[in-house]
Amino acid sequence: MKVLVFGASNHSNSINATLARYTAARLKSEFKPDADIAEIDLNDFEMPIYSIDREMTDGVHQLAKDFYGRIGAADALIISFPEYNGSYTSAWKNIHDWMSRIDMAIYQNKPLIALSATPGPRAGLGVLQAVEDTAPFFGVDLRGRIGVGTWGEAFDYETSSLLRADDITAIDNALGKLING
Ligand SMILES: Cc1cc2nc3c(=O)[nH]c(=O)nc-3n(C[C@H](O)[C@H](O)[C@H](O)COP(=O)(O)O)c2cc1C
Repeated sequence: MKVLVFGASNHSNSINATLARYTAARLKSEFKPDADIAEIDLNDFEMPIYSIDREMTDGVHQLAKDFYGRIGAADALIISFPEYNGSYTSAWKNIHDWMSRIDMAIYQNKPLIALSATPGPRAGLGVLQAVEDTAPFFGVDLRGRIGVGTWGEAFDYETSSLLRADDITAIDNALGKLING
């Protein structure tokens, strides 16, 4: 099982990349020791802001094709979406918009766990709702949606683990659905 993992952020110390990485590590330690985990960094896929004019002049950016290919090569996805002003980061939305010119179903019907980590208590409510509401349009096979709020109290960097039992249980339930349907 090939699993593509990333935080939908261009922050070098992204709490969402940390949560996605934790969830992938938990998949390997508790569910699928042979899972093949590949983590990617959005900074490696930075493109000019999508515009119809750019697309008409130069076509779809190669990095969008590469990202779409990475999703296509995966059996499952673990993505943690930061919430910026109630929705996606512009870093992710730009990649999303470019990929949608290849195929509207950018997630290619791969099983997905959608996570969100936030410093405040909101736990990514807005961005996770956006993922769920638009799932039918973008080819999302949503197996779990988990927001982890008050990140500073939720995660211990020394042990690389979540501290609250409820968060761990929610992630384990989603991982069970990711691998078993
Ligand atoms: C432009 C901007 C908008 C933000 N908007 C929200 C928001 O709507 N809700 C929220 O909970 N946090 C918001 N935050 C705080 C982010 O959750 C915080 O910066 C977090 O670290 C982002 O995740 P990352 O570290 O994975 O990039 C915002 C931060 C920035 C810079």
